[in-house]
Amino acid sequence: MCGIVGYIGKADAASVLINGLRRLEYRGYDSAGLAVLDDGQIVVAKAPGKVAKLNDRAHADWTPERFRRVTTGIAHTRWATHGPPTEVNAHPHLDQAGDIALVHNGIIENYRAVRARLESKGHHFYSETDTEVLAHLIGDCNKGDLFQAVCDALHQVEGTFGIAVLSAHEPDKIITARRGSPIVIGIGEGETIIASDASAILAHTQRVIYLDDNDIAVIKADSVDIRDLNNIPVTREIAELGFDAAAAEKGGFDHFMLKEIHEQPDSLGNAIRGRIDHNLGSSVLAGMGTSPRELAEISRVVLLGCGTSLHAGLVGEYAFEDLADIHAEVQQAAEFRYRNPILGNRDLVVAISQSGETADTLAAVREANQKGAFVMSLCNVVGSTIARETGRGVYLHAGPEISVASTKAFTCQVAVLLMMALKLGRGRRYSREDGIKLAREIESIPELVAKVILQNDRIAKIAADYTQNEHAFFIGRGPMYPVALEGALKLKEISYVHAEGYHAAELKHGPIALLEQGTPVIAIACDVPGKDKTLGNIEECRARGARILGIVTEGDHETAECMDDFITIPRCHPLVATIPAVVALQLFAYHVARLRGCEIDQPRNLAKSVTVE
Ligand code: M6R
Repeated sequence: MCGIVGYIGKADAASVLINGLRRLEYRGYDSAGLAVLDDGQIVVAKAPGKVAKLNDRAHADWTPERFRRVTTGIAHTRWATHGPPTEVNAHPHLDQAGDIALVHNGIIENYRAVRARLESKGHHFYSETDTEVLAHLIGDCNKGDLFQAVCDALHQVEGTFGIAVLSAHEPDKIITARRGSPIVIGIGEGETIIASDASAILAHTQRVIYLDDNDIAVIKADSVDIRDLNNIPVTREIAELGFDAAAAEKGGFDHFMLKEIHEQPDSLGNAIRGRIDHNLGSSVLAGMGTSPRELAEISRVVLLGCGTSLHAGLVGEYAFEDLADIHAEVQQAAEFRYRNPILGNRDLVVAISQSGETADTLAAVREANQKGAFVMSLCNVVGSTIARETGRGVYLHAGPEISVASTKAFTCQVAVLLMMALKLGRGRRYSREDGIKLAREIESIPELVAKVILQNDRIAKIAADYTQNEHAFFIGRGPMYPVALEGALKLKEISYVHAEGYHAAELKHGPIALLEQGTPVIAIACDVPGKDKTLGNIEECRARGARILGIVTEGDHETAECMDDFITIPRCHPLVATIPAVVALQLFAYHVARLRGCEIDQPRNLAKSVTVE
């Protein structure tokens, strides 16, 4: 949520910052701005809308000489929390004297009280944001030492922040700090770049440092000095990123989402490779860090996540119960810490998050840790906060996911959950023979997915008949129920079609009242247990005029004939089938959105990484 970039070095800072913002735009894209140091002064450019508008504004207002001259600056792309996405609310914000500029990701919860206090001292505010209040507070604390002023100000605020601060009086440095919002520092040759995530850094260096909560750093072109908020030095390791700039490009596809859908055979290959033990019919997940005894003692699995990650957890719930005979339950991360979760040291809590930064999931992890559960994570972003706070877990290795709509992360999450369930299952009820068979199927997932992707053109043609509807229902049973939820989420978030996912049996308990002639019902009717009952539910919908698009198993002609349109997936284990089935729905949603002319990679009102509660 919101993207921050800061640069100090030898290059044209404004261009570096704008290019960095382009990489971070998926985090928020309702307004953008940058502040640079030019000739001892802070100069700001801002624009409502996307980074392209900021680029136009800066090039219109600033001379080419300025672009060549400035080598230090900070920038921001916003996802509005306080105040609408106007130019005046866009970051950076300045202090009262106009000498200090601040960009901020997060929420200052006590900003009203701080603002009132500063107003009584004569401060004047222009925006509705909490960030401007923090900028003024830093200015108010400044007695000639920017680092100390930022420390003092941060001691007075409650809430979350990832910040970068620039002062006209200390032009050789940028101060950055974090609490609850990520900051990565890239260490280049004679240049240092900071950002909310590594994708803005890739073009400059592979060497990065991830700040921890309550770290504050003084960034210079050739040095990084990290301390805590009490000015005590701390040591943070330098890590290698391990992926290059090409991984964050569209690579010839019209949209990142389409590219990421097509990448799934590879990303799944990366998630699965080296993690299957064919001999034991099990999986090897070293990151879980569990001894066989600890595994045997687990009495319950609690899966936590939001949005798509929550849906992956729902598939996991079926997998743990089916394969391992363990009581499993999914909990919405946002709700978790506000109820009274009953947890003990025999409960395995698995936090699922692509970004590893989702505020609700992070808060749930902290609650679970505090209650003494055995906590681990499934994250995609290496070094992310959730991955680090859980300490143990399994990385997805899906590669950077840029499109706001999650695709390859979901399928890798499900694949890893299947491997976890298989591992737990083999220590319990699941036989070696069955384990070997399932392990083989898991290993074949990339191939199964590739077969669905081959139907891309056909799916595009089918989608053309569903672009006029404003409502759609997705139905499924068993592990296909979460697939229905995920299919509906994909369609609604990128095409703005109102789509609802239901258990196939649930429609007749109310929602069926909404069916009219031609209402689309997308039925996941693969040849898995429960299919016949789903077929019955399909007939109930058809009798009310619905148009049925079925996801059916290859060769199951009888089922295909029950549908107005159908997409096939290869025959496979019911749990494994969730993955190709969802890929079919991803492509369907993509093409409906494309044909409706939507902004697929950056849908309205959304952001990729939701770091506010
Ligand atoms: O990074 P996370 O997996 O924790 O993100 C959770 C959700 O915000 C995310 O899955 C969201 O629902 C996506 N936009 C869905 O496509």
